[in-house]
Amino acid sequence: MIDIWRQHATDKQGMLDAEAQSLAQLITGATAKNLVRVFFLQEQLKSLGKDKSYQPKYVHVIGAGTMGGDIAAWCAFRGFHVSLQDQTPQRIAPAIKRAHSLFKRKLKRPVKITEAMDRLMPDHKGIGVERADIIIEAIFEDADVKRSLYKTIEPRMKPDAVLATNTSSIPLEELCTALSRPERLVGLHFFNPVAMMQLVEVVTGESTSAEVAAHAMTFTRQIDRLPLPVTSTPGFLVNRILMPYLMEAVLLEAEGIPPAVIDKAATTFGMPMGPVQLADTVGLDICLHVAEILAEHFTAEIPDSLRKRVADGNLGRKSGRGFYNYKKGKPVKTRTGAGNWNMEEISNRLIDRLLNESVSCLREHVVENNDLLDAGMIFGTGFAPFRGGPMQHIDAVGAETVYKQLQTLKALRGERFTPDDGWNILMQS
Ligand code: NAI
Repeated sequence: MIDIWRQHATDKQGMLDAEAQSLAQLITGATAKNLVRVFFLQEQLKSLGKDKSYQPKYVHVIGAGTMGGDIAAWCAFRGFHVSLQDQTPQRIAPAIKRAHSLFKRKLKRPVKITEAMDRLMPDHKGIGVERADIIIEAIFEDADVKRSLYKTIEPRMKPDAVLATNTSSIPLEELCTALSRPERLVGLHFFNPVAMMQLVEVVTGESTSAEVAAHAMTFTRQIDRLPLPVTSTPGFLVNRILMPYLMEAVLLEAEGIPPAVIDKAATTFGMPMGPVQLADTVGLDICLHVAEILAEHFTAEIPDSLRKRVADGNLGRKSGRGFYNYKKGKPVKTRTGAGNWNMEEISNRLIDRLLNESVSCLREHVVENNDLLDAGMIFGTGFAPFRGGPMQHIDAVGAETVYKQLQTLKALRGERFTPDDGWNILMQS
């Protein structure tokens, strides 16, 4: 607008014409189309959890750590009666304190804050299991520990109660063997921080009943989150697609490219935060853990520099040091100077690995279709919304173009860029 005014300040008709043209471009351009699509994708996710007949009241959360504590607080904030279990009362206390801050921030009025606090009950003995309509398990990411917990709680659960696990990487088939009624187990994979991240992956295993999956989806909407149905494959959708992109960033850093340059390449593409800062924010220990689980199932390299940082206790923002150093929770980004970096190649290396994994997930039907994949990546990771998601981006650039880029990168940088078989299906359609 300012440019047009500046150019046509003395010519009223010229200004009106230029304005009309520029507006038409804004309304009909790719950015507008993609953003309108994002709106409809959001509506599509919302429509997945609309079963009004399902009205759970009581939620029991087991594990009051980073995730369980925040999930419990969020459910209480959204009006549910929640009991929160952990091994000792001392482990629950910090979660209750965090919940109080959340309620204060969101609800403001003292009476509302008190009501929300009354809905959230510390329950280290796990008495809430017996009355819960939904039990959300968010204990350590260890299949044996989870299985032995299930054995102890299943006999005490109400017959129609849903058992949801927040596991970020363990296939449900490995967990449900401990249950006499495995059809009750579903994944509700929340993202950190729970109060900010809209997406919840609703993971169905081979045994999960359709009714339980539908209940999980409806519950997700009831707590004002967006449900994304995914299959129980390693990493599910979002982490599986994100991880090659993060690992490529770690490799670039190990090659001597400053983190701020790598992040700049991604934010220029349209990501809300660069991959290096994202890895630091998620926690390098958590990234490493998820990468290791994925490496068991897919050919994936885990850079030594990541292992070393974790071994040295440099875990990212939470420890004050990761790839960046942190001051008051903010990364200190040293000036990178003009630097003679090939920004296009850096960007392609990062984004093409993400696109390649997206195509792989689609070929394996981790999600049902392109729309759901795009929605998952936009609402789960903030993937450049104006580009409409990974699949929409491939469509815009052309599948053949990305395929060729991958082949070139494979020749230059190695096997990890081998195009997935799914590209052939895409290029034929
Ligand atoms: P955490 O280590 O912060 O908390 C786990 C809590 O579970 C601890 O307080 C521990 O005392 C408790 N616990 C362990 N065994 C228990 C038992 N038998 N009974 C009662 N309480 C028990 O872990 P975090 O990060 O909250 O992760 C929990 C789950 O959420 C894991 O499955 C993880 O993969 C998943 N997840 C984690 C994310 C993250 O960013 N931290 C993101 C998404 C999922």
